[in-house]
Amino acid sequence: MSLEPVTLQQLPTDLISDLLPQHVAVIMDGNGRWAKNQGKPRIVGHQKGVDTLKDLLRCCKDWGIPALTAYAFSTENWGRPRGEVQFLMTLFERVLRRELQEMKEENVKIRFVGNLEDLPTSLRQEIDRSMEDTKNNQGTQFTVATNYGGRHEIIQACQAIAKKVEQGYLKANQVNEDLFEQHLYTQGIPHPDLLIRTSGEMRISNFLLWQVAYAEIYVTSTLWPDFDRTEFHKALATYQQRDRRFGKVKS
Ligand code: IPE
Ligand code: IPE
Ligand code: MG
Repeated sequence: MSLEPVTLQQLPTDLISDLLPQHVAVIMDGNGRWAKNQGKPRIVGHQKGVDTLKDLLRCCKDWGIPALTAYAFSTENWGRPRGEVQFLMTLFERVLRRELQEMKEENVKIRFVGNLEDLPTSLRQEIDRSMEDTKNNQGTQFTVATNYGGRHEIIQACQAIAKKVEQGYLKANQVNEDLFEQHLYTQGIPHPDLLIRTSGEMRISNFLLWQVAYAEIYVTSTLWPDFDRTEFHKALATYQQRDRRFGKVKS
């Protein structure tokens, strides 16, 4: 990984610490196009994308942003060529094994969200281990959405709630937003304030459908492997200029 300019190791002076998002979510898109632009196979872009994510996680710590969520693999991504899917699964496993010790030292609390049961067993073992080993950490809350689909998440919450109603533990009129949230994969994690999508695509692609209800959306044409601290700085500066009204009018 390249060394960052010294100035960006700390929060840039034009950003106001009190106005930083408390939770940033990223749709890490454009790895394939990045590789193609270099005349390389798509997997090279995925590999480079890992370095980008690693530095963004560290940047959140350096700049005082307590929570980061990254979209690593969607429920729809199984539809990609078999070789690419296999490469990604192996990459996740290898990176997790390689980075766990450092994340522990940096006090990161890692959590995976998604339908984890359908992931390869060896990857699941690494996932379980990483979550267990970091569960008491108080530093950056790092959430990785893997085999994640917002629709799937909502359906599984509905099923879990319906079952409780069916078994008589709950009444239908007790189902409210708070209870529903408790059945989402992201239970206990605050909603994102800022959603970043790289590579210029202006869509959500089934990510955190419930949770982004009031997130500020920032789209950049920069491809994910090129999304460095300078790019993150731009996203945060834009965020700080937004007027978050939450449906109300200014008093
Ligand atoms: C995002 O980059 C990574 C994953 C979805 C795993 P892409 O692989 O979607 O890259 P593009 O969009 O094809 O350039
Ligand atoms: C979204 O990117 C999923 C991840 C970043 C993991 P995609 O590349 O899969 O999304 P679409 O196909 O452009 O909507
Ligand atoms: Mg893509």
